[in-house]
Amino acid sequence: MTDCLDDVLAHIDADLDKSIERLFRLVEIESISTDPDYAGACLQAAEWLADALDAIGFEAGVRRTPGHPMVVGRAPGGAGPHVLFYGHYDVQPVDPVDLWSSPPFQPKLVTAADGSKQIVGRGTADDKGQLMTFIEACRAWKAVTGSLPIPVTVLLEGEEESGGHNLAPFMEANKQELAADFAFICDTGMWDAKTPAVTTMLRGMVGEEITITAASRDLHSGMYGGAARNPIHVLVNVLDGLRDETGRVTLPGFYDGVGELPEAIKAQWESLGFDEAAFLGEVGLSIPAGEAGRSVIEKIWARPTCEVNGIWGGYSGKGFKTVIPSKANAKVSFRLVDQQDPEAIRESFRAYVRAKLPADCTVEFIGHGGSPGVRLPSDSPALVKTRDALTAEWGKPCVTIGAGGSIPVAGDFKKVLGLDALMVGFGLDDDRIHSPNEKYNLSSYHGGIRSWARILAALSEGSVK
Ligand code: BES
Ligand code: MN
Ligand code: MN
Repeated sequence: MTDCLDDVLAHIDADLDKSIERLFRLVEIESISTDPDYAGACLQAAEWLADALDAIGFEAGVRRTPGHPMVVGRAPGGAGPHVLFYGHYDVQPVDPVDLWSSPPFQPKLVTAADGSKQIVGRGTADDKGQLMTFIEACRAWKAVTGSLPIPVTVLLEGEEESGGHNLAPFMEANKQELAADFAFICDTGMWDAKTPAVTTMLRGMVGEEITITAASRDLHSGMYGGAARNPIHVLVNVLDGLRDETGRVTLPGFYDGVGELPEAIKAQWESLGFDEAAFLGEVGLSIPAGEAGRSVIEKIWARPTCEVNGIWGGYSGKGFKTVIPSKANAKVSFRLVDQQDPEAIRESFRAYVRAKLPADCTVEFIGHGGSPGVRLPSDSPALVKTRDALTAEWGKPCVTIGAGGSIPVAGDFKKVLGLDALMVGFGLDDDRIHSPNEKYNLSSYHGGIRSWARILAALSEGSVK
């Protein structure tokens, strides 16, 4: 198979414009999974992908779930391990839409100030561009040689961004069909625009939405102010107490199961030469927040945190209204590492809030997410081959990194299917995922497609099972 690789890579280069056009078609579909109004678009994205896989020789279909559908495709290949590839076709909401310099679902190729070519649009980096790198690599193998180097199953999800709970049950119900030797997840980043990476650590996440109710209706703040409880004050007091002044989370039991990083990983991360000032500077900051005595990279990859993601209540419209609201709300999330137990932390949070509540107030909770931190093996034969293939493509040694974000499925592959996952992606820190003007560098897209072409070839050589 490796003797065909040069032809496959040449085909990828020659076909790049069409690969970009295909990505544009997918990005145009407004598959926002958190908003029920876009359920039709989610289905449309799933159908588009099933058709795309079908067109390159996969046996593919859209599979209903109680939520947004899955896409599953299978293609035979040469001797070698059978891999299960995962990506997600759903995207984040686009608001605030007026901060986009072009419409989020009208993708376009632009040349940035630094000279790099970038594909701009919602989902270009998270995760449509990324999942398309793999599909386009398969397309090229198929076009040049008529088949794939190794057997492949593709699993594409539509609820990653909305913390959907349908994936693990779907895996459970379709164990036979999803059986493989290991899984690839393409939803992470490179070290920088020139240095490829595999990610072996991810943080988990627990989300909680809370509503505190005090009086039975909104009140005049002159008539009642001083006598009636203000739920916004109760809420901010609750939220403020979640962390001490050093950024440590105060919930009882929160640090149960959090270990110190092994020295070897610490040393390897130090050798990466992370530029803290540049990382913060790129988003207009200069002073690291959070736990004292830890490096920025340790904070984002290996330490748990608590963040308030949203807070509302009372009057925030134009002008002024003297009101004591009946209700106050917040969305809070915790990033988890190591052995922290998501459900124990959820319970600890709820108990803490209830204990702080005055007797004449009530609280309601809505739980979101709930995935543990993930640590993957970093020395399997498949990983070594993958790293070598990435090094060959990018001309710089592939590094092993962590990521602060969460990909709930990473833990499920092991738990439900018994598969180790390998996380390989081509995103960059400045891709603005989840933000206005999300982009994916053309070098990520092109290099990503070429990388997968090489990885598939490398895995077909020798044994990695
Ligand atoms: N692709 C991201 C996670 C990610 C971001 C990994 C950056 C590596 C680097 C994923 O789509 C995501 O946004 N996950 C959510 C999960 C949540 C909604 C359950 C997250 O991390 O907030
Ligand atoms: Mn993602
Ligand atoms: Mn995301």
